[in-house]
Amino acid sequence: VNVILLGPPGAGKGTQAKRLEESRGMVQLSTGDMLREAKTSGSEMGRRAAEVMDRGELVTDEIVIGLIREKLQSPAAGGFIFDGFPRTLKQADALGELLAQMGQGLDAVIEMQVDDAALVARITGRYSCGACGAVYHDDTKPTKVEGVCDVCGSTDLRRRADDTAEALSKRLMEYYKKTSPLIGYYYAKGQLSSVDGLAEMDAVSAAIAKVLDKRG
Ligand code: AP5
Ligand code: ZN
Repeated sequence: VNVILLGPPGAGKGTQAKRLEESRGMVQLSTGDMLREAKTSGSEMGRRAAEVMDRGELVTDEIVIGLIREKLQSPAAGGFIFDGFPRTLKQADALGELLAQMGQGLDAVIEMQVDDAALVARITGRYSCGACGAVYHDDTKPTKVEGVCDVCGSTDLRRRADDTAEALSKRLMEYYKKTSPLIGYYYAKGQLSSVDGLAEMDAVSAAIAKVLDKRG
């Protein structure tokens, strides 16, 4: 089963992708995580991408399509979860072609619906584990022991450079301008399902499972 999680920053895409990895043995492909890795690696591409990301703008289609192409070289038995990709119509077309070359297709596109007011609270309260990537929130999902990752025990808990109010407003604008047209694109293909992203995490997971069981 190959699925796209579509939604604005803070909708819960990463949170639900990690749960699908655990519950269904799927593989999460987050272009945001890949770009942040490139940033830490200190490569020239990572350095250039970091500047754009920290401002809240989208990096070029060429870079992210290249990253996804590389990851699709190793097949995933449980299928892929596309998290934060595609984000433009050009990326959506490229994904369709890449999957077709593998003799595969998309089984579902799940739009996670949330409103802007909730996103600000989600983004400004977010932190994550630098060692294993687990995602937390000051109010809705704090670590059990303060300062220690529940999953791996690391004390390297961080906040993202683009999780400021200023970068967030730019990220939202980019989403509405460049990414939200994908909702119509996939609706027209008959592939779109929507879930209420404002519900509690378990309820969102259940809604996503229902879509995958029906479509997968
Ligand atoms: P990316 O890393 O993809 O960030 P994003 O899309 O802005 O999404 P987020 O990671 O902020 O949110 P999320 O939906 O995963 O929410 P999460 O689960 O963490 O992209 C970053 C940047 O990289 C972009 O701005 C761009 O520059 C670049 N980039 C990436 N991909 C690109 C592409 N394809 N093309 C071009 N550029 C690209 O949840 C948020 C918080 O809420 C967490 O604290 C979580 O614990 C909490 N939470 C989650 N669900 C719930 C719930 N149901 N109830 C209560 N709290 C919840
Ligand atoms: Zn961890």
